Amino acid sequence: METKEKLLVPYHPTPPEMAREMLRAVNVRPGETVYDLGCGEGNILIVAAEEFKANCVGIEIDEKLVEVAREKVKERGLEGRVKIFCDDIFSSEYWAHEGDGEKPYAVANADVLALYLNHRIQELLIPKLVKELKTGTRIASYEFFFRGWEDLGDINRIFIYEKGKSF
Ligand SMILES: C[S@@+](CC[C@H](N)C(=O)[O-])C[C@H]1O[C@@H](n2cnc3c(N)ncnc32)[C@H](O)[C@@H]1O
Repeated sequence: METKEKLLVPYHPTPPEMAREMLRAVNVRPGETVYDLGCGEGNILIVAAEEFKANCVGIEIDEKLVEVAREKVKERGLEGRVKIFCDDIFSSEYWAHEGDGEKPYAVANADVLALYLNHRIQELLIPKLVKELKTGTRIASYEFFFRGWEDLGDINRIFIYEKGKSF
């Protein structure tokens, strides 16, 4: 993938009240695993861990944002629940493939994806999500819908999807 494609989405944080609404919209339950692909400073994941008691994984390409996210997680004593990786979300490290053996942080383990990206990067993600997510995984996408997928609801520009129903 070209570098310019990697950086298609600039940082823009989701406010905690919106993060809360996203997580409520997909009914996150205690102990579920929530991923944020392009997690920025970790706002969504911090709400997911603190208020919804979820286990969280964030992947973020910008080292400075990763540093801030890890600091925020540490300040709140959430290191046991929130793991932040500094990487490209398209890195094969995070996508399980048959025969590769178990990858503990593969996106295939997600119960929920909470995303704030854009149409272009979502279009690039579609083949991976279709191939790797397990049936029943829910997606809350803030601001941007997935072209060609049927959403299960749209509340305050939060688009809801479920593998097996929407795609
Ligand atoms: C709109 S911000 C959302 C941040 C966070 N999810 C939130 O809602 O607060 C999008 C984030 O995606 C990150 N990003 C963009 N392209 C990426 C890529 N290829 N791999 C990992 N992160 C990426 C950006 O650096 C930015 O922090």
